[in-house]
Amino acid sequence: MPGKFYITTPLYYVNASPHIGHSYTTIAADTLARYMRNKAGEDNVWFLTGTDEHGQKIEKAAEAAQLTPKDFADEVVLKFIGLWKKLNISYNDFIRTTEDRHIQVVSRALEILYKKGDIYEDKYEGWYCTPCETFWIDAQVIDQACPDCKRKVERISETNYFFRLAKYQDWLRGYINSHPDFVNPESRKEEVLRFLELNKLNDLCISRPKERLKWGIPLPFAPAHVTYVWFDALLNYISAVGYFDENNKYRSKWWPAQLHLMAKDILRQHAVYWPIMLYALGIDLPEKIFAHGWWMLKEEKISKSRGNVINPLDIVNKYGLDAYRYFLLRDVPFGLDGNFSEEAVIKRYNSDLANDLGNLVYRTLTMVEKYFDGNVPHVEGEEINYDPRGEDIIKRIEGRDSIFQKEVRKGLEEYNFSYSLGEIWSLINMANKYVEETKPWNLAKENKGDELKAFIIVLVKVIRQVAGELKPFMPDTSSAIINQLGSQKIEKGAPLFPRLLPQC
Ligand code: ME8
Ligand code: MG
Repeated sequence: MPGKFYITTPLYYVNASPHIGHSYTTIAADTLARYMRNKAGEDNVWFLTGTDEHGQKIEKAAEAAQLTPKDFADEVVLKFIGLWKKLNISYNDFIRTTEDRHIQVVSRALEILYKKGDIYEDKYEGWYCTPCETFWIDAQVIDQACPDCKRKVERISETNYFFRLAKYQDWLRGYINSHPDFVNPESRKEEVLRFLELNKLNDLCISRPKERLKWGIPLPFAPAHVTYVWFDALLNYISAVGYFDENNKYRSKWWPAQLHLMAKDILRQHAVYWPIMLYALGIDLPEKIFAHGWWMLKEEKISKSRGNVINPLDIVNKYGLDAYRYFLLRDVPFGLDGNFSEEAVIKRYNSDLANDLGNLVYRTLTMVEKYFDGNVPHVEGEEINYDPRGEDIIKRIEGRDSIFQKEVRKGLEEYNFSYSLGEIWSLINMANKYVEETKPWNLAKENKGDELKAFIIVLVKVIRQVAGELKPFMPDTSSAIINQLGSQKIEKGAPLFPRLLPQC
């Protein structure tokens, strides 16, 4: 399908409720999906999210909650689905790794690789970090601490099945070098290349004996073992949108994905394991993967296991959904880490939303009411005489492919959300400045009707453009603005973002 756009989020673990970090990736994906639907057409976009439900971490969490893993997952998954609804997430499909369609594809993939000789049995001796669901070798572990998260690792010695990663190391290096757009941002690509240059990949242990872990997909050729959770979960990206035919050829209308989004914590799995798995299976690689940064709280990553999570619903209930979406995408350039604080949300809210955007819309509609009896002025058949400041603004927004639209869209094409929003706000600020410098109340007093009309026309045009470009970021706000503008007669409502009072 030429021009299609298949975008994914990670499949989040259901060991605990979703937090701000999960909502970040999902809101970013939602924004891109909405943007692409507008650009490429509804039918050409497929947005997938879902949950990762197998593995030791979930098994342990279920045990602690005194539920079976499936019952436990069934409960937690509702929190994800509920949150996505509340956050206006327009996913097309939600996949759970416990679904039949997924299990079938995973089993087939295992069979294919086993027959091909890319999966083999061997004795395993080493360390395991459950929170990271990752194996480590002796050389990587100091004082029984996980090299990634520093928590205590367990000693493991057992017979397992291995996937031949090492065999494909050179191929992967070559691939990443010859496809410089594959791993994003650039700094992450460099990181992956460095890792591949400095380390010899170990084959990946992809099984767990059932005595140690029951909660997983059984290996079709060794039913006393279940599949390692990462080997299982990554395959969701293909199991959700396709199947293997009788000749073991993978078929799908949507694959390959145009973009896998995630944070940098799971870059290696997506940039190393996943491409090799696909290549070994004879399946095309995704076009791009993008690993963004982390939301931090007091210099620490926000995470379930650190217990410093922020519940998105608390912020949304206090400041509104679009303020939350705006804050996440505006405050930190996509790709970098950011510090979360409620003060920062309040600051953005008051300055950007209440003072800039809300004020522009409110004061413009108030003038339409006051000077034009609520009818949006328009001029038919003759040219409008804008003053020089108005002319400057019109130049930025005029035409189907205006400078303004081009800049906003450039940001989206590069996943640079804060750039796009910055462009939208610079237009808003231009318009607010225009109001302050023009002093429309004087035009009215001096009976300069044509000037006043031209002036209001500029503002209304700006607002329409702003509402249009805000749509993927803040869908509710965008429609609220369009509704207030009406088709001819405005329907002015309360200010969009009433100023927040200082907190006690
Ligand atoms: O890793 N800042 O699931 P997970 C930004 N099941 N993003 C964050 C974040 C933070 N502080 N914390 C979490 C898994 N995220 C696997 C994935 S994919 C086939 C399997 C987001 O529940 C970010 O997208 O630990 C990160 O990559 C993901 O949640 C990890 O979610
Ligand atoms: Mg995690």
